[in-house]
Amino acid sequence: MKPKELWSMAKKNKQAIPSFNFSSLDVALTISRIVQNSSYQCLVSTSERELNFQTIEIVVAGIKALQKQGYPVFLNLDHGKIMDTIQKAIQMGFDCIHFDGSSLSFEDNIHITKQIVEQCKPLNISIEGEIGKIGGSSTLQDESTPESILTDPNEAIRFVKETSVDILACSFGSGHGLSKEPEILKTEILDEISKQIEIPFVLHGGSGIVPSEIKKAIDAGVVKINFNTELRIAWHDGMRDYCQLNTQDIVPVNILTAADERVAKVVEDKIMLCLNR
Ligand code: 13P
Repeated sequence: MKPKELWSMAKKNKQAIPSFNFSSLDVALTISRIVQNSSYQCLVSTSERELNFQTIEIVVAGIKALQKQGYPVFLNLDHGKIMDTIQKAIQMGFDCIHFDGSSLSFEDNIHITKQIVEQCKPLNISIEGEIGKIGGSSTLQDESTPESILTDPNEAIRFVKETSVDILACSFGSGHGLSKEPEILKTEILDEISKQIEIPFVLHGGSGIVPSEIKKAIDAGVVKINFNTELRIAWHDGMRDYCQLNTQDIVPVNILTAADERVAKVVEDKIMLCLNR
């Protein structure tokens, strides 16, 4: 199955495909095992920073090896902004590309997204565009994180018509990271867009959003939900707690196993949310 078929399948079943970020292959393998045990599918995603840390060659080789072993995972570039990285990701066989043109002018965002769409379509790579700005960052928030700018439905409609993206990231009340206040999603923004065009949506900033809001998003046409912060917290806390309890254990396999066990629990929970049962 190709990612574009995933979006249609998810929409038909009123479900979403989770996208989980990873910064190291132990986490990608953990995610893959859990999603396979759940008989579901997911995206394993890296942003540019996570990708540069691991190197694109190792990421592609690692995920292709997982796919070859039958793990139901697709490789996604999350918030791609640098043309060189996007070009490499396309050439090296990523399954999905998210081009984040949210810091560009509306016209430039359309122009560049369109160029990337033209490259991705013949290769069957799913291309995600972004309209509005999804603020925050997948860290324990500080004052300096960017503010969200809600998606303007009219801009979104023009953007989709002109670029022909496969899937659209909208800013409708979520932010990256854990918010202090409960995040209430403004799904009426998605409803406005859906009145005029048919386009599957992406919910960024999935960490911390309560199940009822996730359900509301899926019902409004969200087919992909991104999760990062909660996995990072689980990995960090698992490692910290293990090391505090086992101060003399320096064996990386033991430490990573403890961290990955915590990640696995978060992945399981998020898959259940996305299955929308
Ligand atoms: P969270 O860090 O809030 O889970 O968001 C992740 C994300 O949207 C990645 O694109």
